[in-house]
Amino acid sequence: MTETVRVELGDRSYDVRIGEDLITRAGQEIAPLLHAPRVSVVTDSHVADLHLAPFCDGLATSGIESEALVLPAGEATKGWEQFSRCVEWLLEQKVERRGIVVALGGGVIGDLAGFAAAVLRRGVRFVQVPTSLLAQVDSSVGGKTGINSVQGKNLIGAFHQPSLVLADIGALSTLTGRDFLAGYGEVVKYGLLGDAEFFEWLEVNGPGLAAGDMALRSHAVKRSVEMKAEIVARDETEQGDRALLNLGHTFCHALESATGYSDRLLHGEGVAIGCALAFETSARLGLCSQEEPSRVRAHLKEMGMKTDLADIPGDLPGAATLLNLMGQDKKVLDGKLRFILARGIGKAFVTSDVPHEVVMDVLSEGLAARR
Ligand code: GLY
Repeated sequence: MTETVRVELGDRSYDVRIGEDLITRAGQEIAPLLHAPRVSVVTDSHVADLHLAPFCDGLATSGIESEALVLPAGEATKGWEQFSRCVEWLLEQKVERRGIVVALGGGVIGDLAGFAAAVLRRGVRFVQVPTSLLAQVDSSVGGKTGINSVQGKNLIGAFHQPSLVLADIGALSTLTGRDFLAGYGEVVKYGLLGDAEFFEWLEVNGPGLAAGDMALRSHAVKRSVEMKAEIVARDETEQGDRALLNLGHTFCHALESATGYSDRLLHGEGVAIGCALAFETSARLGLCSQEEPSRVRAHLKEMGMKTDLADIPGDLPGAATLLNLMGQDKKVLDGKLRFILARGIGKAFVTSDVPHEVVMDVLSEGLAARR
């Protein structure tokens, strides 16, 4: 069964379709958007090996021609060099203002190809076909596109909404266990930030969905996308509520920076640890009881996920350096760090009013537990 979540943004509204076999059925889904039966596909070498042939064959069955640009797999692709290569290739393909660019892959490809579509001829439409859990529940929805700068991640970009998102949950079976669980960090985030019932559902069903149950996977992706769609519809360009989606991210970005954006810590792993630290900080500030961070950690541990600073391999800098790295975050406003804290599970809010000593204590204790 295919589920649909609508992202309501006036004349830029679009559907997120969630189901099995959407990669091979993409032609039927994309055909109504086309003025000419042709699309340009951007993907990476890893995803191309797994999904490009079935995707293009499916398009051909619907009479749609396709050309593909296969970029190197990995975060390093998300910079000026491959971005410029992508834009020039799309121009060579003569993608017109009414043409369609398809991003087939995880967050790196979705962000880069979406940004290329945003600037090509001052904006062409694009379709997201996310193949990782993280991309299905977060990065493919909501129109944040961009690339990394040497100064930091995602610092160059544009808001450019896709015209359609096809989340094929069958593709999740091709992920490594580690990549799946990293994406699950973003799923847990939704329950923690705004839906305690969903978090309870994850406590019961998380192990089953990680083991491959498709009905459970479909529900988890759908509920996550519904929550993201509601928030994006309220606050497309992050003037307010959209910042809630950054629960765990202020800690996460500092940890990713401290680990050199390497395999030592995947983004979703950093989000999971960041959520636990955000709840710990909330408890220290008396916003919620100590049981709440313990419950967050218990679920992450049960799922076999990284939960604490102690779970990050290799050296980490001290608490003061980590706090300083948080200061480089995009969420800094008027020089003040913005945190997403919580009054309980499902009750997150945005605040700049967090004493640095409390954050220092939380980080110092987490670092001490590594010894
Ligand atoms: N990933 C956070 C957002 O889309 O706002």
